[in-house]
Amino acid sequence: MLHVWIDTDPGIDDSVALGAAFKHRDSLDILGISTVAGNQTIEKVTTNALYLTRLFGADDIPVYKGANAPLARASHSAGHIHGEFGLGPIKPEMFTDNFSSLNAVDGMKKAFFALPDGEKATILPIGPLTNIALLLKTYPEVKDKIEKIVFMGGSLSCGNVTSLAEFNVWHDPEAAHIVLKSGLKLVMCGLDLTMKCTLPEEYIGRIRSEYLLRMEKNEEHKTLQTLFDMLKFYLESPAYRDKREVAMHDVCTVLYLLYPELFHGEMHAVDVYLSDDICRGLTYRLDTPYSDYGDKYEPNVLVLNGAENTRFRDVVMETLLRY
Ligand code: BDR
Ligand code: CA
Repeated sequence: MLHVWIDTDPGIDDSVALGAAFKHRDSLDILGISTVAGNQTIEKVTTNALYLTRLFGADDIPVYKGANAPLARASHSAGHIHGEFGLGPIKPEMFTDNFSSLNAVDGMKKAFFALPDGEKATILPIGPLTNIALLLKTYPEVKDKIEKIVFMGGSLSCGNVTSLAEFNVWHDPEAAHIVLKSGLKLVMCGLDLTMKCTLPEEYIGRIRSEYLLRMEKNEEHKTLQTLFDMLKFYLESPAYRDKREVAMHDVCTVLYLLYPELFHGEMHAVDVYLSDDICRGLTYRLDTPYSDYGDKYEPNVLVLNGAENTRFRDVVMETLLRY
């Protein structure tokens, strides 16, 4: 069993990632879910995380509230992509049964140190890296209990919030810098990967057909219907309405843990710009194949840049249709 912690700002693609992780609890021991301001405010994404654990039948997993703003700047939500509440058209009910009284940083520390000697946790951050940076700075000794960090964020090509920067890293580049310099094993599921890991409109349509069929047969269909409503909203958002397919950014981290053979990537020495101009949040590689200049830099990140797309889509669909 892999011990896993998910740090998230749900978020429509975060919801799919959580749904996928919760359907694999036979191989993933999910220690906790923490929330971070990103796609929406901390209050909204925390309500969403609690709602999603209930929706997906995983409300035995504790939810910890995390940072309400990036380390050095104000928060900017992505309501135009994820909706006013963060889950597209869904206005989530408030559930609090599995809401922890510990904050995200203390929750992680406690859960990781509670693991038996020699066992470590893998962290999946799928929002801005604020909580993870705070954890590493507040309790540096916790590094001994972290196997690796598989994060969604960054890009070695173009950005999606500015032409250069990806949203999660751009939202809190100072936090990303702390994580990139942590010396921990890092796997980056950035836009070079996730913009290729899409779900086309016809796949989203299949979710609709399935829930309508179940509705007709008077079978359970609420979870699938909710997933469809969110994905349809995501498809019609300005990021995807012309493409007629949506990027499944965050679920890449979960699928990488479960099916690493579906992905490929390269080790690079990656850093991030913290300047206050167009470069803010730009992730870049210091190593270069064009001269031996780059050899001075030790690779610190496995940068994923491709996946077996058909299989990726099939696994996402098979998993979601089990709800
Ligand atoms: C990332 O930004 C968020 O809007 C998504 O949930 C994903 O984590 C993609 O850039
Ligand atoms: Ca996210």
